[in-house]
Amino acid sequence: MNPSARKPARKPVIAGNWKMYKTIAETESFFAEIRPLVAGSAHCDIVIAPPFTLLRRAVEAAEGSGISISAQNLHWESEGAWTGEVSAAMIRDAGCRSTLIGHSERRQLFGETDEGVSKKIRAALDAGLQAIVCVGESLAEREAGDTEKVLERQLSGGLAGLTGQDFSRIIMAYEPVWAIGTGRTATPEIAQQAHNFIRSRLGQAGPPEAAGRMRILYGGSVKPGNIQGLMAQPDIDGALVGGASLEAKSFAAIVNFRA
Ligand code: PGA
Repeated sequence: MNPSARKPARKPVIAGNWKMYKTIAETESFFAEIRPLVAGSAHCDIVIAPPFTLLRRAVEAAEGSGISISAQNLHWESEGAWTGEVSAAMIRDAGCRSTLIGHSERRQLFGETDEGVSKKIRAALDAGLQAIVCVGESLAEREAGDTEKVLERQLSGGLAGLTGQDFSRIIMAYEPVWAIGTGRTATPEIAQQAHNFIRSRLGQAGPPEAAGRMRILYGGSVKPGNIQGLMAQPDIDGALVGGASLEAKSFAAIVNFRA
C-alpha cells in the first residue's frame, strides 16, 4: 500500500509558531482580527503556539473560534525543582491542546537532544496533549548529502518506544533549518521527497496504517504565495508557519489556501 495515497483522509493542519513575539494586547488584537477571517475554515485544524505568558489569554481569546492553542516547549517532569521550566500538566491546565517539541531553534540554540525529544513526547502524550514534533536537517547536512541520515536519526531517537495509539496523537513537522526565517522555502518537490521519506520511516517505526494517517506539516518560510504549491504534494498535510503567523491577515490567507 502506498501511504501517500491516503491523503484525502488526513485533515490539513495549519499551525502558527509565534516564537518570542507579542504582548497580551497584541495577542488580543490578533484574535479579534483573525476570528472572522477563519470563521468558515472547517477544512483544516488551526493551531497557534504563543509564548508561555500568553497561553491562557490566547485560549480565552480563541474560545469558540475553532483555533486551538499550543505551547512551544515543555519539560518532561510533571513538577519539581526545575527553575524556569513548565510541565505538560501546566500547559494542559492553561487550556492548551498541544505542544511543539524539538523545534530546530531548541535543538540548535538550547542543546535539545533526540533523547530529550523522546522524553518530552512521552510527557506530553501522558498529560493528554497532542505532540507536534519537529525534525529537519541543516544546510551543511543537506549539502553533505546527509538529509535522510539526519531525519532517520531524529525519528528513531525521538519516536523510540511509541505505540500505534501514541502515533495517532502525534503530528510531525518537517522543517529544513536552511529554510527557517530565511525566505528560502524548500521547493514543493524537495519538501515532498523529505515528507515521503519521513512517512516511510514512520511506517517502519510503528504500524503502517498509523504512518499513513499521520499528518506531516512542512515548515520554513511558508507564505500565502507558496502554500498552494506545497499543499498540492501528496505527503504534505499542512504547514508550521513562523513569521507569516504573526499577522492575522497573512496567517488567515495561509489557512484559507484553497480559496
Ligand atoms: P518561518 O519559521 O516560517 O519564519 O520560516 C518556521 C518555524 O520556525 O516554525
